[in-house]
Amino acid sequence: MSEPPAVLVTGGSGGIGSAVMRRFHSAGWACCSVDITSSDVPASCHSVVADLRTAAACRDAVADAVQRLGRLDAVVNAAGVWHEGDTAATTETDFDRVIDVNLKGTYFVSAAAIPHLESTRGCIVNLSSDAGIQGNSGAAAYCASKGGVSVFTKALALELAPRGVRVNAVCPGDVDSPMLRGQARDYGGGEQQYYDRLLAGYPQGRHARFITPDEVAEFVWFLCQPEAAAITGANLSIDFGLSAGIFPRD
Ligand SMILES: NC(=O)c1ccc[n+]([C@@H]2O[C@H](COP(=O)([O-])OP(=O)(O)OC[C@H]3O[C@@H](n4cnc5c(N)ncnc54)[C@H](O)[C@@H]3O)[C@@H](O)[C@H]2O)c1
Repeated sequence: MSEPPAVLVTGGSGGIGSAVMRRFHSAGWACCSVDITSSDVPASCHSVVADLRTAAACRDAVADAVQRLGRLDAVVNAAGVWHEGDTAATTETDFDRVIDVNLKGTYFVSAAAIPHLESTRGCIVNLSSDAGIQGNSGAAAYCASKGGVSVFTKALALELAPRGVRVNAVCPGDVDSPMLRGQARDYGGGEQQYYDRLLAGYPQGRHARFITPDEVAEFVWFLCQPEAAAITGANLSIDFGLSAGIFPRD
């Protein structure tokens, strides 16, 4: 029997990453998380523990994951951290953490995966954000990291198209995950108040709700299927229209 297709998911312990792992695993793919922790990695998935803030750690982690998986058909870069605060008050340490995890980690994991993906004509899906395509007031460092991810995605898609590898970014609005709950805890001033303020930014009005990790995972799954062969270099929103433009409010 031939070996199943395989996916490496960074941030596989997180809300979106673990949902992606479950989605691919349910379809018979071999899955490997690369995360700073191994908690919440779905059973029967592989796990490599690594801090993805250096190029060397990214290279080692990809090599380790490919060794466990035996092949590599898709990479989903879902490791990430949030930071908010006035630009003038953001420390170099905070800035470096956000850029190093969100942008540098995505860059060097992708770079290390290229030869493996070339041999399977595979694909990369990067978790950008609505904050990668529009400004979020009070989150300039995070926006800088996600803007980098969004345009990096386009450049890498052009570079790898002749070699048969597709690269796309998914840009979610607010997803009900540990990251969102951490934001509310660390910056919220009362969790419900924080959630209400975010939901007030959506055009659905009183019907607004957060996106689920499973909804994002389904979108990522589709982008890794043969039916998505024509999609590369795209930044695709899944945000209830959050980034679509201005809308009338009461
Ligand atoms: N939750 C949202 O509202 C939202 C919206 C848009 C985009 N995103 C992006 O989607 C991705 C997944 O977010 P999530 O909501 O699942 O967040 P999460 O906090 O649930 O998961 C993030 C994962 O990244 C891992 N991680 C953090 N630092 C790391 C490091 N140095 N090395 C390796 N792994 C590290 C964490 O351990 C965690 O498992 C992130 O890139 C995030 O920026 C999230």
